[in-house]
Amino acid sequence: MTVRPDHWWRHAVFYQVYPRSFADSDGDGVGDLDGVTAHLHHLDALGVDGIWLNPITVSPMVDHGYDVADPRDVDPLFGGITALQRLLTAARARGIRVVMDVVPNHTSSAHPWFVEALRSAPGSPARDRYFFRDGRGPGGNRPPNNWISVFGGPAWSRVTEADGRPGQWYLHLFDAAQPDLNWDNPDVLADFARTLRFWLDRGVAGFRIDVAHGMAKPPGLPDMPTTDVGLLAHRDDDPRFNRPGVHALHRAIRAVVDEYPEAVTIGEVWVHDNAEFAKYLRPDELHLGFNFRLVQAGFDAAELRDAIDNSLAAVGLVGATPTWTLANHDVERAVTRYGGGAVGLARARAMALVLLALPGVLFVYNGEELGLPEVALPDAVLQDPVWERSGHRNRGRDGCRVPLPWSGSVPPFGFSTTTRTWLPMPADWAELTVACQDGDPGSMLALYRRTLRLRAEHPPGAGLSWLPSPDAVLAFRCGDLVCVLNAGEHPAALPEGTVICASGPLTGELLPPATAAWMT
Ligand code: GLC
Repeated sequence: MTVRPDHWWRHAVFYQVYPRSFADSDGDGVGDLDGVTAHLHHLDALGVDGIWLNPITVSPMVDHGYDVADPRDVDPLFGGITALQRLLTAARARGIRVVMDVVPNHTSSAHPWFVEALRSAPGSPARDRYFFRDGRGPGGNRPPNNWISVFGGPAWSRVTEADGRPGQWYLHLFDAAQPDLNWDNPDVLADFARTLRFWLDRGVAGFRIDVAHGMAKPPGLPDMPTTDVGLLAHRDDDPRFNRPGVHALHRAIRAVVDEYPEAVTIGEVWVHDNAEFAKYLRPDELHLGFNFRLVQAGFDAAELRDAIDNSLAAVGLVGATPTWTLANHDVERAVTRYGGGAVGLARARAMALVLLALPGVLFVYNGEELGLPEVALPDAVLQDPVWERSGHRNRGRDGCRVPLPWSGSVPPFGFSTTTRTWLPMPADWAELTVACQDGDPGSMLALYRRTLRLRAEHPPGAGLSWLPSPDAVLAFRCGDLVCVLNAGEHPAALPEGTVICASGPLTGELLPPATAAWMT
């Protein structure tokens, strides 16, 4: 296997900024890029190498930017392209690189291509950039196949033709405002390549590629064997994703990105099978792929060990670099996922030590460093399209997207100047603000800062070896660092060595439950 060059991103710690929720500079209740620029010191203090920005391009914001109407301009809501330039300059001065989200699988229904397609006749070149099909049944009044949307409801919507009659249907694996692009049409790659070069020329360090296992569709768009796949679910047997044809698309994308040797691509690859996952990371495809096994593992030693082993095994098949994350804008916050309350917080603290000890590339989702819990929002404020599309059966992902608390004792906690934030902030977050945690050596923020500093001093290297431990305990060595996690119910003995950091107080020589320690 060829040895891959040692690029900057191979050991990078990325901080994921959900721009709507990070910091609002203009008082409209929605975070923006000048808000990010104004708070770069927070990221500097954490010691991250890069930022991944969720979508900031022009969008009607039906799926908060994952419905892109103009991929080569920044939405005015986020401050326009000049705000991005200010952020890039300020971040560069601090040695922080900025990675953007790009959305190749679909556009917004407000994208000029889709508007043109709606005005054009069935069979026209404009319609060929998307998936327009005649319906089934009498008068074509049933969708072309049985596919369902990942967000709920049918994956097809019917259009009205120029003569005013109900006409063809178009495919949208997500919201109806997110029509899927037809990557067999050469315009699609040509335009995507233009978008990549446009941003790389402006100093962006690379891209997080949305739904990187999507794009290619099965020829003939056959029915799904079962539509009972769950919303927001990711199954390897789902015929709508991970088609063999997707790899040629990644090779074409990589050829463009390779014109910029420092640039990095990170694919959102919801593929469980290791061999299938590894295909995306062959030397001429993506640089990195999100492996979600750690997110999906419970606070259980066997599950965590399995997630770590398989994540390493998958990249090992092709000599690629592993990536690790505990949370993102699509999943429940870690504190809540691990049980909520004091227990959930203790486990999330312990898992932070596990995450930060792992070899390769890390992603920290904004707010995880504050230990923010998932927020139980009232029905009336929910915005995720999943809520409506699921017929109010699935509350969607708003609970992990609530704005960050920076300072003060009442909402909006320094996030904005208005209390009318795009999602309401819980009244009891005063102790979770950055300002409050800043002065508290026992806070989650202090733990993240300390551990990230120690990670820089003790680089984990490339490999991981397991150390003998009881069943409920994980113990592994990366570089000169040993990480021990007690996921059991009883205090556990620590191996020989010196504790340099712990997620909670030790009981004498013992590691209490829901606690992790770093040792040298
Ligand atoms: C990805 C994004 C998610 C978005 C979806 C559709 O899964 O992470 O937030 O809704 O793609 O673009």
